[in-house]
Amino acid sequence: MEFEQSVVQHYSHGSLERVIVAALAASGKDLDRLTLADLAPVDEFHIGGRQATIEFAERLGVGPGLSLLDVGSGLGGASRYFASEHGCRISGIDLTGEYVRVADALARRVGLEERVSYRQGSALDLPFETGMFDGAYMLHVGMNIRDKEGLFAEIRRVLRPGGFIGIYDVMREGEGDLNFPLPWASSAETSFVESVAAYRALLESAGFAVEKERSRREFAIDFFRRMRAQAAERGGPPPLGLHILMGASAQQKAANMSDLLERGLIAPTEIIGRAV
Ligand SMILES: C[S@@+](CC[C@H](N)C(=O)[O-])C[C@H]1O[C@@H](n2cnc3c(N)ncnc32)[C@H](O)[C@@H]1O
Repeated sequence: MEFEQSVVQHYSHGSLERVIVAALAASGKDLDRLTLADLAPVDEFHIGGRQATIEFAERLGVGPGLSLLDVGSGLGGASRYFASEHGCRISGIDLTGEYVRVADALARRVGLEERVSYRQGSALDLPFETGMFDGAYMLHVGMNIRDKEGLFAEIRRVLRPGGFIGIYDVMREGEGDLNFPLPWASSAETSFVESVAAYRALLESAGFAVEKERSRREFAIDFFRRMRAQAAERGGPPPLGLHILMGASAQQKAANMSDLLERGLIAPTEIIGRAV
Protein backbone atom coordinates (compact mmCIF):
# COMPACT_ATOMS: atom_id res chain seq x y z
CA MET A 1 0.00 0.00 0.00
CA GLU A 2 1.24 3.43 -0.88
CA PHE A 3 0.73 5.02 2.50
CA GLU A 4 2.57 2.10 4.15
CA GLN A 5 5.61 3.21 2.13
CA SER A 6 5.19 6.70 3.57
CA VAL A 7 5.12 5.19 7.09
CA VAL A 8 8.35 3.29 6.38
CA GLN A 9 9.94 6.45 5.02
CA HIS A 10 8.88 8.38 8.12
CA TYR A 11 10.59 5.91 10.48
CA SER A 12 13.64 4.91 8.40
CA HIS A 13 16.92 6.47 9.46
CA GLY A 14 19.64 4.88 7.35
CA SER A 15 22.35 4.21 9.91
CA LEU A 16 20.42 3.65 13.10
CA GLU A 17 22.45 0.83 14.61
CA ARG A 18 25.72 2.73 14.18
CA VAL A 19 24.26 5.91 15.72
CA ILE A 20 22.75 4.02 18.68
CA VAL A 21 26.01 2.18 19.36
CA ALA A 22 27.93 5.48 19.23
CA ALA A 23 25.43 7.09 21.65
CA LEU A 24 25.74 4.10 24.02
CA ALA A 25 29.51 4.50 23.98
CA ALA A 26 29.21 8.27 24.53
CA SER A 27 26.97 7.55 27.55
CA GLY A 28 29.77 5.43 29.06
CA LYS A 29 28.04 2.05 28.56
CA ASP A 30 30.12 -1.11 28.26
CA LEU A 31 29.28 -2.32 24.74
CA ASP A 32 30.28 -5.90 25.61
CA ARG A 33 27.95 -6.02 28.62
CA LEU A 34 24.86 -4.11 27.57
CA THR A 35 21.76 -4.44 29.74
CA LEU A 36 18.06 -3.85 29.02
CA ALA A 37 18.25 -0.70 31.15
CA ASP A 38 21.10 0.65 29.00
CA LEU A 39 18.94 0.40 25.86
CA ALA A 40 15.66 1.65 27.37
CA PRO A 41 16.16 5.38 26.62
CA VAL A 42 16.10 4.60 22.87
CA ASP A 43 14.31 1.27 22.30
CA GLU A 44 10.91 2.13 23.86
CA PHE A 45 9.37 4.50 21.29
CA HIS A 46 6.20 5.51 23.14
CA ILE A 47 5.18 8.02 25.81
CA GLY A 48 6.63 7.09 29.19
CA GLY A 49 9.23 4.67 27.75
CA ARG A 50 10.20 1.70 29.92
CA GLN A 51 8.05 2.87 32.86
CA ALA A 52 4.93 2.77 30.65
CA THR A 53 5.83 -0.79 29.55
CA ILE A 54 6.38 -1.95 33.14
CA GLU A 55 2.98 -0.62 34.23
CA PHE A 56 1.25 -1.97 31.11
CA ALA A 57 2.71 -5.46 31.67
CA GLU A 58 1.38 -5.40 35.25
CA ARG A 59 -2.11 -4.55 34.00
CA LEU A 60 -1.93 -7.35 31.41
CA GLY A 61 -0.90 -9.82 34.09
CA VAL A 62 1.52 -11.69 31.81
CA GLY A 63 3.42 -14.72 33.10
CA PRO A 64 6.17 -17.18 32.11
CA GLY A 65 5.75 -19.41 29.09
CA LEU A 66 3.24 -17.22 27.21
CA SER A 67 3.71 -16.84 23.48
CA LEU A 68 3.00 -13.22 22.53
CA LEU A 69 2.81 -11.13 19.38
CA ASP A 70 4.20 -7.58 19.43
CA VAL A 71 2.40 -5.66 16.67
CA GLY A 72 4.61 -2.84 15.36
CA SER A 73 7.52 -3.97 17.52
CA GLY A 74 9.85 -1.10 16.52
CA LEU A 75 13.34 -1.51 18.01
CA GLY A 76 11.95 -4.21 20.31
CA GLY A 77 12.44 -2.69 23.78
CA ALA A 78 9.06 -3.85 25.08
CA SER A 79 9.47 -7.36 23.66
CA ARG A 80 12.86 -7.79 25.34
CA TYR A 81 11.36 -6.54 28.61
CA PHE A 82 8.45 -9.05 28.40
CA ALA A 83 10.92 -11.84 27.58
CA SER A 84 13.50 -11.01 30.21
CA GLU A 85 11.31 -9.91 33.13
CA HIS A 86 8.18 -12.02 32.56
CA GLY A 87 9.57 -15.12 30.84
CA CYS A 88 7.42 -14.75 27.68
CA ARG A 89 8.39 -15.68 24.11
CA ILE A 90 7.76 -12.84 21.70
CA SER A 91 7.33 -12.57 17.94
CA GLY A 92 7.52 -9.02 16.70
CA ILE A 93 6.32 -7.71 13.37
CA ASP A 94 7.06 -4.28 11.97
CA LEU A 95 6.65 -2.50 8.65
CA THR A 96 10.01 -0.71 8.88
CA GLY A 97 12.79 -3.05 7.74
CA GLU A 98 15.55 -1.03 9.39
CA TYR A 99 13.79 -1.26 12.79
CA VAL A 100 13.50 -5.05 12.38
CA ARG A 101 17.22 -5.36 11.64
CA VAL A 102 18.20 -3.14 14.59
CA ALA A 103 15.76 -4.99 16.91
CA ASP A 104 17.50 -8.27 15.96
CA ALA A 105 20.94 -6.77 16.54
CA LEU A 106 19.96 -5.35 19.95
CA ALA A 107 18.45 -8.69 21.02
CA ARG A 108 21.77 -10.40 20.20
CA ARG A 109 23.70 -7.74 22.10
CA VAL A 110 21.72 -8.49 25.30
CA GLY A 111 21.65 -12.28 24.72
CA LEU A 112 17.87 -12.60 24.23
CA GLU A 113 17.86 -13.83 20.63
CA GLU A 114 16.45 -17.24 21.68
CA ARG A 115 13.34 -15.67 23.21
CA VAL A 116 12.47 -12.87 20.82
CA SER A 117 12.27 -12.77 17.03
CA TYR A 118 11.34 -10.03 14.60
CA ARG A 119 9.93 -10.06 11.07
CA GLN A 120 9.30 -7.35 8.55
CA GLY A 121 5.65 -7.20 7.48
CA SER A 122 2.30 -5.50 7.86
CA ALA A 123 -0.01 -5.80 10.83
CA LEU A 124 -2.83 -5.97 8.27
CA ASP A 125 -1.50 -9.22 6.80
CA LEU A 126 0.17 -11.13 9.62
CA PRO A 127 2.50 -13.95 8.51
CA PHE A 128 1.37 -16.19 11.39
CA GLU A 129 -0.93 -19.18 11.80
CA THR A 130 -4.47 -18.91 13.11
CA GLY A 131 -4.81 -19.24 16.91
CA MET A 132 -1.07 -19.50 17.61
CA PHE A 133 -0.61 -16.73 20.24
CA ASP A 134 -1.71 -16.44 23.89
CA GLY A 135 -1.81 -12.68 23.60
CA ALA A 136 -0.92 -9.68 21.46
CA TYR A 137 0.02 -6.14 22.32
CA MET A 138 0.56 -2.96 20.39
CA LEU A 139 2.33 0.14 21.71
CA HIS A 140 1.82 3.43 19.84
CA VAL A 141 1.10 1.80 16.47
CA GLY A 142 -2.62 2.29 15.77
CA MET A 143 -2.03 5.97 14.99
CA ASN A 144 -0.37 4.81 11.73
CA ILE A 145 -3.13 2.37 10.71
CA ARG A 146 -6.28 3.61 8.99
CA ASP A 147 -7.93 0.18 8.65
CA LYS A 148 -8.35 -0.67 12.33
CA GLU A 149 -11.21 -3.01 11.49
CA GLY A 150 -8.82 -5.10 9.38
CA LEU A 151 -6.09 -4.77 12.00
CA PHE A 152 -8.22 -6.11 14.86
CA ALA A 153 -9.63 -8.90 12.67
CA GLU A 154 -6.07 -10.02 11.84
CA ILE A 155 -4.98 -9.89 15.49
CA ARG A 156 -8.14 -11.81 16.53
CA ARG A 157 -7.32 -14.47 13.91
CA VAL A 158 -3.85 -15.23 15.29
CA LEU A 159 -4.99 -15.39 18.95
CA ARG A 160 -6.27 -18.51 20.65
CA PRO A 161 -9.79 -18.18 22.16
CA GLY A 162 -9.42 -16.35 25.48
CA GLY A 163 -6.14 -14.75 24.37
CA PHE A 164 -5.65 -11.10 25.26
CA ILE A 165 -5.13 -7.96 23.26
CA GLY A 166 -3.38 -5.03 24.96
CA ILE A 167 -3.27 -1.62 23.30
CA TYR A 168 -1.39 1.48 24.39
CA ASP A 169 -2.00 4.09 21.69
CA VAL A 170 -2.34 7.84 21.42
CA MET A 171 -6.09 8.40 21.13
CA ARG A 172 -8.35 11.35 20.33
CA GLU A 173 -9.78 13.10 23.41
CA GLY A 174 -11.11 16.41 22.03
CA GLU A 175 -12.01 18.17 18.78
CA GLY A 176 -9.51 20.26 16.81
CA ASP A 177 -6.77 19.99 14.19
CA LEU A 178 -3.59 18.13 15.07
CA ASN A 179 -0.44 20.12 14.39
CA PHE A 180 2.32 18.24 12.57
CA PRO A 181 5.00 16.96 12.61
CA LEU A 182 4.25 14.45 15.37
CA PRO A 183 6.48 11.54 16.42
CA TRP A 184 4.40 9.05 14.39
CA ALA A 185 3.70 11.15 11.29
CA SER A 186 5.07 14.15 9.44
CA SER A 187 1.63 15.04 8.06
CA ALA A 188 -2.04 14.05 8.30
CA GLU A 189 -1.50 11.62 5.38
CA THR A 190 -0.25 8.84 7.69
CA SER A 191 -1.98 9.80 10.95
CA PHE A 192 -5.20 8.04 12.01
CA VAL A 193 -5.84 8.96 15.63
CA GLU A 194 -9.19 7.62 16.90
CA SER A 195 -11.20 7.94 20.09
CA VAL A 196 -11.33 5.26 22.76
CA ALA A 197 -15.03 4.79 21.88
CA ALA A 198 -14.09 4.04 18.26
CA TYR A 199 -11.43 1.54 19.38
CA ARG A 200 -13.90 -0.15 21.72
CA ALA A 201 -16.59 -0.49 19.02
CA LEU A 202 -14.08 -1.86 16.47
CA LEU A 203 -12.62 -4.31 18.98
CA GLU A 204 -16.06 -5.60 19.93
CA SER A 205 -17.09 -6.11 16.33
CA ALA A 206 -13.81 -7.98 15.68
CA GLY A 207 -14.66 -10.48 18.45
CA PHE A 208 -13.06 -9.02 21.58
CA ALA A 209 -14.61 -8.32 24.97
CA VAL A 210 -13.12 -5.08 26.31
CA GLU A 211 -12.12 -5.57 29.95
CA LYS A 212 -10.09 -2.51 30.97
CA GLU A 213 -9.55 1.06 29.77
CA ARG A 214 -7.27 3.66 31.31
CA SER A 215 -6.30 7.16 30.18
CA ARG A 216 -2.62 7.84 30.82
CA ARG A 217 -3.01 11.61 30.39
CA GLU A 218 -1.64 12.66 33.78
CA PHE A 219 1.22 10.16 33.55
CA ALA A 220 2.09 11.57 30.09
CA ILE A 221 1.92 15.23 31.15
CA ASP A 222 4.19 14.45 34.08
CA PHE A 223 6.57 12.50 31.77
CA PHE A 224 6.95 15.45 29.36
CA ARG A 225 7.48 17.93 32.22
CA ARG A 226 10.25 15.75 33.65
CA MET A 227 11.86 15.37 30.21
CA ARG A 228 11.85 19.14 29.70
CA ALA A 229 13.27 19.79 33.18
CA GLN A 230 16.06 17.24 32.63
CA ALA A 231 16.94 18.71 29.21
CA ALA A 232 17.01 22.25 30.66
CA GLU A 233 19.25 21.13 33.51
CA ARG A 234 21.62 19.37 31.10
CA GLY A 235 21.46 22.10 28.48
CA GLY A 236 20.15 19.68 25.80
CA PRO A 237 19.16 16.08 25.30
CA PRO A 238 21.37 13.20 26.56
CA PRO A 239 23.45 11.31 23.93
CA LEU A 240 21.01 8.38 23.98
CA GLY A 241 17.32 9.17 23.59
CA LEU A 242 14.27 9.10 21.34
CA HIS A 243 15.55 12.22 19.57
CA ILE A 244 17.80 9.80 17.64
CA LEU A 245 14.68 8.14 16.17
CA MET A 246 12.80 11.39 15.55
CA GLY A 247 15.60 13.07 13.61
CA ALA A 248 16.11 16.76 12.89
CA SER A 249 12.52 17.71 13.83
CA ALA A 250 12.61 15.81 17.15
CA GLN A 251 12.10 18.92 19.27
CA GLN A 252 9.16 20.12 17.16
CA LYS A 253 7.53 16.67 17.20
CA ALA A 254 7.79 16.40 20.98
CA ALA A 255 6.61 19.98 21.49
CA ASN A 256 3.56 19.49 19.22
CA MET A 257 2.61 16.28 20.99
CA SER A 258 3.00 17.80 24.43
CA ASP A 259 0.92 20.83 23.39
CA LEU A 260 -1.93 18.64 22.02
CA LEU A 261 -1.84 16.62 25.21
CA GLU A 262 -1.99 19.67 27.49
CA ARG A 263 -4.86 21.15 25.38
CA GLY A 264 -6.84 17.92 25.77
CA LEU A 265 -6.95 16.91 22.08
CA ILE A 266 -5.05 13.64 22.50
CA ALA A 267 -3.98 11.29 25.29
CA PRO A 268 -2.15 7.98 25.44
CA THR A 269 -4.70 5.37 26.49
CA GLU A 270 -4.61 1.68 27.40
CA ILE A 271 -7.29 -0.80 26.36
CA ILE A 272 -7.19 -4.46 27.31
CA GLY A 273 -9.56 -7.02 25.85
CA ARG A 274 -10.00 -10.75 25.43
CA ALA A 275 -10.78 -12.83 22.35
CA VAL A 276 -14.25 -14.33 22.83
C1 LIG B 1 5.94 4.89 17.37
S1 LIG B 1 6.65 3.42 16.79
C2 LIG B 1 6.39 2.32 18.20
C3 LIG B 1 7.33 1.14 18.17
C4 LIG B 1 7.21 0.18 19.35
N1 LIG B 1 5.88 -0.37 19.46
C5 LIG B 1 7.59 0.88 20.63
O1 LIG B 1 6.69 1.19 21.42
O2 LIG B 1 8.78 1.10 20.84
C6 LIG B 1 5.42 2.81 15.63
C7 LIG B 1 5.87 1.55 14.91
O3 LIG B 1 4.75 0.98 14.21
C8 LIG B 1 5.22 0.45 12.99
N2 LIG B 1 4.07 0.33 12.08
C9 LIG B 1 3.28 1.32 11.61
N3 LIG B 1 2.31 0.82 10.80
C10 LIG B 1 2.49 -0.53 10.78
C11 LIG B 1 1.83 -1.61 10.13
N4 LIG B 1 0.79 -1.41 9.30
N5 LIG B 1 2.29 -2.86 10.34
C12 LIG B 1 3.37 -3.08 11.14
N6 LIG B 1 4.03 -2.10 11.77
C13 LIG B 1 3.61 -0.84 11.60
C14 LIG B 1 6.27 1.45 12.55
O4 LIG B 1 7.13 0.90 11.59
C15 LIG B 1 6.95 1.76 13.88
O5 LIG B 1 8.00 0.88 14.15
